[in-house]
Amino acid sequence: MRVLVVGSGGREHALCWAIAASPLLTKLWCAPGNPGIAAVAECVPIGVLDLPALVAFAKDNAVDLVVPGPEAPLVAGITDAMEQAGIACCGPTAAAAQLEGSKTFAKEVADAAGIPTAQWERFEDAEAARAFIRRRGAPIVVKADGLAAGKGVVVAATEAEALAAVDAMMDQHVFGAAGSSVVIEECLTGDEVSLFALCDGETALPLGSAQDHKRAGDGDTGPNTGGMGSYSPVPMFPPALEQACMEAIIQPALHEMARRGTPFRGILYAGLMLTPDGPKLIEFNVRFGDPECQVLLLKLRSDLLPALQAACDGELKDFDLRWHDVAAIGVVLAARGYPEAPERGSVIRGLVAAGAVPHAAVFHSGTEADADGVLRAAGGRVLTVCAIGKTLKEARDSAYAAVDAVDWPEGFCRHDIGWRALDRG
Ligand code: AMP
Ligand code: GLY
Repeated sequence: MRVLVVGSGGREHALCWAIAASPLLTKLWCAPGNPGIAAVAECVPIGVLDLPALVAFAKDNAVDLVVPGPEAPLVAGITDAMEQAGIACCGPTAAAAQLEGSKTFAKEVADAAGIPTAQWERFEDAEAARAFIRRRGAPIVVKADGLAAGKGVVVAATEAEALAAVDAMMDQHVFGAAGSSVVIEECLTGDEVSLFALCDGETALPLGSAQDHKRAGDGDTGPNTGGMGSYSPVPMFPPALEQACMEAIIQPALHEMARRGTPFRGILYAGLMLTPDGPKLIEFNVRFGDPECQVLLLKLRSDLLPALQAACDGELKDFDLRWHDVAAIGVVLAARGYPEAPERGSVIRGLVAAGAVPHAAVFHSGTEADADGVLRAAGGRVLTVCAIGKTLKEARDSAYAAVDAVDWPEGFCRHDIGWRALDRG
């Protein structure tokens, strides 16, 4: 098979690494890719939102399967565009990607499908939103309706914070059109878990669960980020609970999407809160999480490629995925200043030594290479240093041993990835 992965982060590096191991693969490209990805795929300099160029490339090179990593091209219609050109694409259509592209849409689907989720209301008028907040009080959650690069959610501990979020989103338009309407929600409490499923429109195959670490600093302090690390499995989310959430959350969402005539194919990612009243849906995403993808794929024993193809073909029903009985962990190394203003250009060394730590694997996120091969930071999140182990503690120790081998003084990481699981023994 000839495969094109779309994206340039650690998630796409892990996807390329897994697909490159498939005996079915004959050629792998990644657009635009990164220097780490270049070790397993041919990188082509096309941006993830340049759909005409991606389609032309796929046609010219007789690509059999396109695998988009991030949400933006999915919401923009990459699957529709590829399918129109007769090329299989393992992701939802633009209509189905609205599960991530619009918070209102996701909430409507959840309500119609009877999926447990936070009570919510949508506002197009800032005055009405403020009145609602004053009536309901804090804590309360304010969300920009559209895509805001993972930054459009404010969990407000005080009424003033919630009112300020409405000012910023609706009056100052800090997220542009994404904030012209807002969803205001009941604040849920509990452990957060991400559940992943590969879907073919009807059948959902569990891909496992992981816990992300959204805050930049140890002990869950500091600003929100795209995710500073993750681990899997999550002991607070045992297999029986995962199965229950497949039945109560993922499967009903698939039914509802099919019923609306917009069946969901690709990876469905449910962000869950394990509340005292049971698991509740926080949000849907229509892709793998980053860095959750890296740890989940390290555990996968089966060939990923035929599973992705089966999802496109509507043939997941009799499909089975096998997993290594291990724990996996990923620690993100970010450039100083992330998330507000990451410094670019510092030199990264020691990756060969890091990758040589037993059971460790290093995925590139935001890196670039000079003409002479020197590797430099080129983004906020720069590397995901991962490891597997018989236990989470063993995996954690290997991952941090590999982190220590990376020679990059201008980078930082959290030192407590996995703490919620490890502190509970
Ligand atoms: P997002 O950026 O959309 O992934 O959401 C950011 C974070 O906001 C989530 O990971 C949760 O921690 C938090 N969050 C979103 N909705 C709620 C809610 N209704 N109650 C409590 N926390 C929430
Ligand atoms: N790590 C969270 C996400 O990819 O949305």
